[in-house]
Amino acid sequence: MMLQRIYLHRVWDAVITFCVTLSAIFIPLKLVLGLHDHSWAVNFSAIVTIFFVFDILVHFFRARTARADNTAITTERLGIYPKRWLAVDALAALPFSLLTDLSILHLLRLIKLARVAQFMRHWRRRAPQKGNILRLIFFGYWLILSTHWIACGWLSLRGMTSTNENLENYFSALYWTIQTLSTVGYGDMTPSTTAQRIYAMTVMIFGVGVYGYIIGNVANILANIDPAKAHYLENMERLTAFMNYRSIPPALQNRIRDYYTYLWEKRLSYDESTIISALPPSLQTDVSLFLKRDIIEKVPLFRGASNEFIREIALQMRPVVFTPGDFVYKAGEQGNDMYFITRGELEVIANGAAQSTMKEGDFFGEIALVLKQPRTASIRAVTFCDLYRLDREMFNRVLSHYPDIAAQIESTAKARQERG
Ligand code: CMP
Repeated sequence: MMLQRIYLHRVWDAVITFCVTLSAIFIPLKLVLGLHDHSWAVNFSAIVTIFFVFDILVHFFRARTARADNTAITTERLGIYPKRWLAVDALAALPFSLLTDLSILHLLRLIKLARVAQFMRHWRRRAPQKGNILRLIFFGYWLILSTHWIACGWLSLRGMTSTNENLENYFSALYWTIQTLSTVGYGDMTPSTTAQRIYAMTVMIFGVGVYGYIIGNVANILANIDPAKAHYLENMERLTAFMNYRSIPPALQNRIRDYYTYLWEKRLSYDESTIISALPPSLQTDVSLFLKRDIIEKVPLFRGASNEFIREIALQMRPVVFTPGDFVYKAGEQGNDMYFITRGELEVIANGAAQSTMKEGDFFGEIALVLKQPRTASIRAVTFCDLYRLDREMFNRVLSHYPDIAAQIESTAKARQERG
């Protein structure tokens, strides 16, 4: 129901955007071409008035339902119809054709463009992953409207050529505008009065700004198409410079490169812990749960565990990556953490020989935590491994609340110790 309503709101916003856009095109055009008395112009104005009046009702209704549902839709965040928006909507909805013969006043209707700008801000907030593309699309929208307005302005300064049709007059003004804005300027249409020269100079300055904005944005979009790749390449460049500076041996350099390549390929270049810890607590739990649910479900130990336990453990586990050949730790070391395997294969090495291998869903490192003794074996990554790490403090805190799971970990620890 709510989704349906949001969908309807979007469709309505699109309809209003369409009406505003048509008004932004036709009102200046009929002003410079002197088409006020044409029946289509009067009908169009009446239809737009009806839509805009209806829009005010829609916003009142939205404000009320937003308050009732506690939802936030565009401006109705607090469940009220903000006064300034009411003023904008009401002014734009006036039946100008009936009220005044002074046609320039009809331009007041274009104040409703503020609503379009607001929709655009809203759409960009809702789809940040497409932010750059949307910015360029919206920029294109404003650019097309501005070009049209500038052409209308030029037409009104130049006056109509009596021998030509309206359409021909408009297109020659548009032609002048585009060649001036794009800084091409063939010079086949030149200003002949002071007012026209001032106008032309202003358009030229505006054109240079527009040109720069487009180039800057396109470069920005290209650079941001794949932020993970950009991050990876930047890291690699910094690393290579550092490794060469410190004369790190080539074999070690390759391992470091392999590590970063793996992070990038698996889209782990984003620092998950930092991103999550910057969120408010309730969001932290939900995001952690979403990211770690897979691994938690794969660990037999956690099957059937309560939701509270799963939430708590999800929040406390930190992701770590090991490359093939890396030791997670060595036998005899003091142990302060245990690990859960999300992906990859590791081997348990004791007395100089591999005892067993562990895969996705297994856990290790619990003996040192449960029995408070040094590591009984070394653990080495056979492939690239994604692990989640739980440190001693968190381990104790979580398990003190969940004795069933604590008992299972303890019995696994004892069984493994006897075997090892
Ligand atoms: P810990 O002693 O803290 O560090 C080494 C880990 O290897 C150990 O905890 C267990 O989790 C794991 N381990 C030890 N022996 C075995 C075994 N025989 N089979 C599987 N895992 C083991």
